[in-house]
Amino acid sequence: MQTVLITGGAGFVGSHIARELIKRYEKIVVLDNLSTGLRSNIPTNEKIIFVEGDFSDRNTVEQLFSIYRFNYIYHLGAIASVAASIDNPLFTQQTNFQGTLNLLEAARKQGIVNRFIFASSAAIYGNEGTLPKKENTMIQPQTPYAIDKFSSEQYVLAYHHLYGLPTTALRFFNIYGINQNPHSPYSGVISIMTKHFELKSKGENPAFTLFGSGQQTRDFVYVKDVVDASLLVATNAAAVGKVFNVGTGKAVSILDIIKIYEQISGYSLDLTYQQKRNGDIDHSYSDISLLSSLGYKPRYSIEEGLKEYWEEV
Ligand code: NAD
Ligand code: UD1
Repeated sequence: MQTVLITGGAGFVGSHIARELIKRYEKIVVLDNLSTGLRSNIPTNEKIIFVEGDFSDRNTVEQLFSIYRFNYIYHLGAIASVAASIDNPLFTQQTNFQGTLNLLEAARKQGIVNRFIFASSAAIYGNEGTLPKKENTMIQPQTPYAIDKFSSEQYVLAYHHLYGLPTTALRFFNIYGINQNPHSPYSGVISIMTKHFELKSKGENPAFTLFGSGQQTRDFVYVKDVVDASLLVATNAAAVGKVFNVGTGKAVSILDIIKIYEQISGYSLDLTYQQKRNGDIDHSYSDISLLSSLGYKPRYSIEEGLKEYWEEV
């Protein structure tokens, strides 16, 4: 019987991965403290065991590993907002860095893990270096979030090199899709935008806040493509001890996203401008050739992803 641990399984990306894991494995343990995740995101299925707890607490992690033996670990749980990390660097470090180390150490001690997959981020590249970002492009993490992701990622790789733990780190670019909680200024930009379009469709007219010029670009990748990538690496021996970009290989500006979304939804957004966010990255998009060499191919263009998202809300 194969048992999987997924941290952050009540969150956006974690809940989508959990849904696919049900099809492949016998038992899926979701560890989540519901800080940004929602219980309703967790798929209802007899294979899922939900444990409400905090992985930055070592006792919680040790206790969990004393009850279950994990064949696969997907570590998705984190404070996912760059802006939140700037507001709370100490708390972010406890969660995003110390929490990762707690899980790595428990996995090492248990000694039966087939794969430990870590959700790293494109944020670690920062604003320097050339575009598109390749895995060996210069790294310049410039926020607490990015620093903790990069430090964690390096630990994840070191646990393979030093202790033989089979690990893989994925540098996710900007993910969008259903289940991303929009109810906070720290939420991902497309989920906030979607909420605004939804309110528009109900006759309300809240202005959408654009930080900076709107010309900043991101590589927006649909959540289903991220699920494909996460499942692909978990069972591919060539991915052990490595780090991969997960994106589409294309950049889109925030203003262009608004235009595309206006066409799809049939509503227009009122904008208010505020100054660029502290630590915000100007331009980002991925080179995905390394992951493509393992068979990854994003299935969704931005138009297709936004259309499906809009149909699902
Ligand atoms: P999310 O906020 O929706 O999910 C994170 C989950 O982790 C939430 O359910 C939250 O309750 C849980 N969590 C937070 N702290 C915890 C703790 N101490 N103990 C237990 N659970 C805890 O975020 P997401 O968008 O699904 O991101 C998933 C992962 O992917 C994160 O590691 C994030 O940094 C990374 N990532 C996300 C994106 C993106 O665009 N969404 C891009 C790059 C990387
Ligand atoms: C996002 C992810 C982060 C991930 C990174 C990878 C979230 C919350 N953040 O960070 O986990 O590691 O991608 O690249 O999922 N903006 C607005 N108005 C808003 C909200 C945002 O203009 O209401 C702007 C921001 O200033 C930024 C852009 O939109 O320029 C994207 O912001 P955001 O969705 O928070 O993403 P990142 O900061 O890139």
